[in-house]
Amino acid sequence: MTATVQFPDYVKHQQARNWITEMVALCQPDKVEFCDGSEAEYDRLCQELVDAGTYIKLNPELRPNSFLARSDPSDVARVEDRTYICSLNKNDAGPTNNWMNPKEMHGILNGLFDGCMKGRTMYVIPFSMGPLGSDIAHIGIEISDSAYVVTNMKIMTRMGAKVWDVLGTDGEFVPCMHTVGMPLKDGQKDIPWPCNPETKYIVHFPEERSIWSYGSGYGGNALLGKKCLALRIASVLGRDEGWMAEHMLILGVEDPQGEKTYVAAAFPSACGKTNFAMLIPPKPFLDEGWKVTTVGDDIAWIKPGPDGRLYAINPEAGYFGVAPGTSSKTNPNAIISCAKNTIFTNVALTDDGDVWWEGMDGDPPAHAIDWQGNDWTPDSGKKAAHPNSRFTAPAEQNPAIDPAWEDPKGVLIKAMMFGGRRATVVPLVYQSFNWSFGVYAGATMGSEQTAAAFGQVGEVRRDPFAMLPFAGYHMGSYFNHWLRMGRRVVDPPRIFNVNWFRKDKDGNFMWPGFGENMRILKWVVERANGRGRATESPLGYVPHYEDLDWRGLDFSKEQFQELQAVNRELWLQEILGHEALFVKLYDRMPNEFLNMRELLTSNLWRSPEKWDVDTAGTINS
Ligand code: OXD
Ligand code: MN
Repeated sequence: MTATVQFPDYVKHQQARNWITEMVALCQPDKVEFCDGSEAEYDRLCQELVDAGTYIKLNPELRPNSFLARSDPSDVARVEDRTYICSLNKNDAGPTNNWMNPKEMHGILNGLFDGCMKGRTMYVIPFSMGPLGSDIAHIGIEISDSAYVVTNMKIMTRMGAKVWDVLGTDGEFVPCMHTVGMPLKDGQKDIPWPCNPETKYIVHFPEERSIWSYGSGYGGNALLGKKCLALRIASVLGRDEGWMAEHMLILGVEDPQGEKTYVAAAFPSACGKTNFAMLIPPKPFLDEGWKVTTVGDDIAWIKPGPDGRLYAINPEAGYFGVAPGTSSKTNPNAIISCAKNTIFTNVALTDDGDVWWEGMDGDPPAHAIDWQGNDWTPDSGKKAAHPNSRFTAPAEQNPAIDPAWEDPKGVLIKAMMFGGRRATVVPLVYQSFNWSFGVYAGATMGSEQTAAAFGQVGEVRRDPFAMLPFAGYHMGSYFNHWLRMGRRVVDPPRIFNVNWFRKDKDGNFMWPGFGENMRILKWVVERANGRGRATESPLGYVPHYEDLDWRGLDFSKEQFQELQAVNRELWLQEILGHEALFVKLYDRMPNEFLNMRELLTSNLWRSPEKWDVDTAGTINS
């Protein structure tokens, strides 16, 4: 029997009440719960999830107050081919997004949502992206039939009754509908990870500013504050209101004199944003007083401040980090962040009730239960944790959290970094000549596909600004928006391009990465503050070997030059690859890009077959 809605007194927003009543009639849940965001509610829901077999409580001595969930094997990543931007006009979604006429899509969704919560509880989850009540924050209300979603949203956002106070009687909110898409017939027993293996829809209506998600319980498809609201819908808000919603980490660098510089960086999914955001500098840097602090690890909302410069906030309150490869060598701060109060999804379970994944510290356990619930041993020839397995951990548990991470004004961004995963072609680091060249470099960024989305892992695809799966409108208009922002703001951030993933001819990574990335970050910060030497290369400004701080690392000048080499033929081919993107986005492509491409091409033509930093003159700029 469908529940009748008992609104708590604190829900004073009539429009929200009407919408919830309408959604209850549509979805026909057995019960409606208004989530208050309290610890008691969290504990009760986790216990219910344990009773249902969705969560396994981990050993409280080894992993206090933490749980493991195993998803359905078909529901392990974002589903980009099932993700839609349903703008009124098809061309507003652009050729890189799936589109359907909003009326037609509403018809499909109304059919699918009709009775979709039968036998289930509907949770009403109010949340704020950004500090509660901040001018920069936005509020969403997610309606979901998944307690997994509620408990993850509690960690990832500012969630609970207090959001209704901020919303008042007529505040703006983004309605977010979510169902796992598996109604229960009378007497039908539920399964630990309900989802709809056949039918999934992740749909955004940019003009309505609403989100509908059907059939998946997995993070990016179901925690609607994250990719759906904070990137796809927020990018549309940013376009219309003059700000930017970006797939970027934000970090702070403090030098030994105490000067703090904030940097935002865009890398595609599963390319090390969390690691970079939590970087621990090498010992000689630490001894001297260098510090790196985290503001955010995945999403940045960047707005012009009263002084006309760009300020950024992290709209999230937790980390939904990729587990495999995370260790106290690669990311000690992440290891501490997920030491307690954490929800793990699709990692392995050890015999003593803790978690394990490939790349964790120490030897693999002699026996474990893998992410699909089967026995696993090191020689079983398969992965114990899914490559896209995750930890959901509160940001405040990060020992390197920046003191200003919740500052509603945001932090001043002086540098931006773009980087893909490229085995060849792209050098370790170069600084774009100016904002426009930086936008060009961001727009033409390529990366080898990872496990964060379904697809052929390893193939290079263009992933402009790491936003290909997340821009809520036409990518060509998005490039124009970036160029416009550069013209509008005072002293725009300097733009840098990095590639931590270049390999030698034997397939070995040429750069040690992780904490050693501090050497590049130091140069970036120096350049962004008008210091630091550079040389003009065909692509942009680059450091000499001597311009980087090598203390504590045995890395020769020859190795560095190999890593920075610009191969003319490969780059001309790379630029031909840009052409394919430009043709695709032709009708909204910024004219400036054609000129910049010509300039880059002629720079390359003038350069030797293999450009080498020692063949160039040194400039101070
Ligand atoms: C993420 C992603 O989960 O980008 O952050 O896929
Ligand atoms: Mn991401």
